[in-house]
Amino acid sequence: MAKSKKIKVGIVGVGRGQYLAHGMTNIPEMKLVAFCDVQKEKLVKVGKELKVDTYTDYDKFLEHDMDAVILANYFHEHAPFAIKAMKAGKHVMSETSACITIAEGVQLIETVEKTGKIYMFAENYPYMAVNQEMRRLYKSGKVGTFMYGEGEYIHPIDADNWNKMSCGMNHWRNWIPATYYCTHSLAPIMYITETRPVSVNGFVIPYTADDLVNACCVRRNDSASMIALKMDNGAIVKLLQFNLRGGNVWMRIHGSKGQMENLREGDNNMLRLIREQYHQKRTTPKTQIYLPDFPEHHDKAIKAGHGGGDFFTFYHFVKAIKTGNQPFFDVYRGVSVSIVGILAYRSALDNSNTLEVPDFRKKSIRKKYKDDHWNPNPAQKKKGDPWPSVFGKITPTKQGIAYSKRNWKNVGFIEKTN
Ligand SMILES: NC(=O)c1ccc[n+]([C@@H]2O[C@H](COP(=O)([O-])OP(=O)(O)OC[C@H]3O[C@@H](n4cnc5c(N)ncnc54)[C@H](O)[C@@H]3O)[C@@H](O)[C@H]2O)c1
Repeated sequence: MAKSKKIKVGIVGVGRGQYLAHGMTNIPEMKLVAFCDVQKEKLVKVGKELKVDTYTDYDKFLEHDMDAVILANYFHEHAPFAIKAMKAGKHVMSETSACITIAEGVQLIETVEKTGKIYMFAENYPYMAVNQEMRRLYKSGKVGTFMYGEGEYIHPIDADNWNKMSCGMNHWRNWIPATYYCTHSLAPIMYITETRPVSVNGFVIPYTADDLVNACCVRRNDSASMIALKMDNGAIVKLLQFNLRGGNVWMRIHGSKGQMENLREGDNNMLRLIREQYHQKRTTPKTQIYLPDFPEHHDKAIKAGHGGGDFFTFYHFVKAIKTGNQPFFDVYRGVSVSIVGILAYRSALDNSNTLEVPDFRKKSIRKKYKDDHWNPNPAQKKKGDPWPSVFGKITPTKQGIAYSKRNWKNVGFIEKTN
């Protein structure tokens, strides 16, 4: 495409998609031209506000004159939507997760290879200023060889807000296993250190009936998970996510020469770098604490959502389309970070045994996984598929169902079944 031409973009999903649409107004190289959602009322409202064409049918939407599609539809349906879009000649930026089964991950990778379209996994947490600064420090050798890392994405939510964004018994938030949303904790570590997970041990922190939030929801999944990873350079990583009290987003990197992390207390955009320069002339104070700027485009990023991360996902998507070079979070890294969540759950259900994280850049490895359709979606449960909780089938309480339905009704959602 001509370098000066605007990239015509369509978005799927009026929830997160609406925020992305507003964020896109700060990206001069992109132009929103179409919106798609099955919820007609919300879609029409958003379409009028943004002055774009709207579609309730994804196939019709794909016929619209546009260059790229941003997928902010359901968490567990991104891969088939991405595959269809690329086959229709569109570049794709996909929200997390890239795939809900490992077989889908293989299909997604093969579609990118076959079509040659740009695929960007829209992980935004790596691009927060503090994580970009850790990447800069790591690349400059300040902390030496990566030895150990921790990534935490702890996001407790009260029942009313949970239910408003999880309308329906089978809404994905009410059933995805506790290991599946691991991309916000893992992707920054992959970006900072440019390492890749090679093995996984998963541990699930189970559902508790005395959590008053659970009592007011229809969740059938566990609270949180701890995932232990070995990376391709031998480093060990601990991930912790999702629903525990004491919300925080925290990254910690230990190297052979130093350690760095964002602050746990106070402003968690602040970075602490510790360099114990034993046996060498000290060149910096032992400890430095500072608030880093973004390495580039600070003025634009500072105004964007998710600590500036939302600006940089657009920025890198545009750059990839304009140059024809796949972005850092390409389909291989997108699938890799997503299948860690799948494999960690499989491990947790098998006494936390060690499982290999396959490197799908190697074609020969794909064969073993291309029919791995293991899927925790209770609405599609087949023989051999897991329940979303390590306890097996969880039945929501009458109180939880009634409370949720009141919340859903307040946002205009009426459950058709149950
Ligand atoms: N990166 C981030 O910081 C971040 C933040 C929020 C959400 N997300 C991700 O964005 C995605 C969407 O999140 P959400 O909170 O808006 O979820 P959601 O479930 O509220 O919204 C999904 C939307 O997709 C629409 N949809 C479903 N099937 C469709 C179809 N066949 N055709 C057209 N539209 C369809 C739904 O009607 C709904 O409006 C999820 O994958 C989530 O993980 C990422």
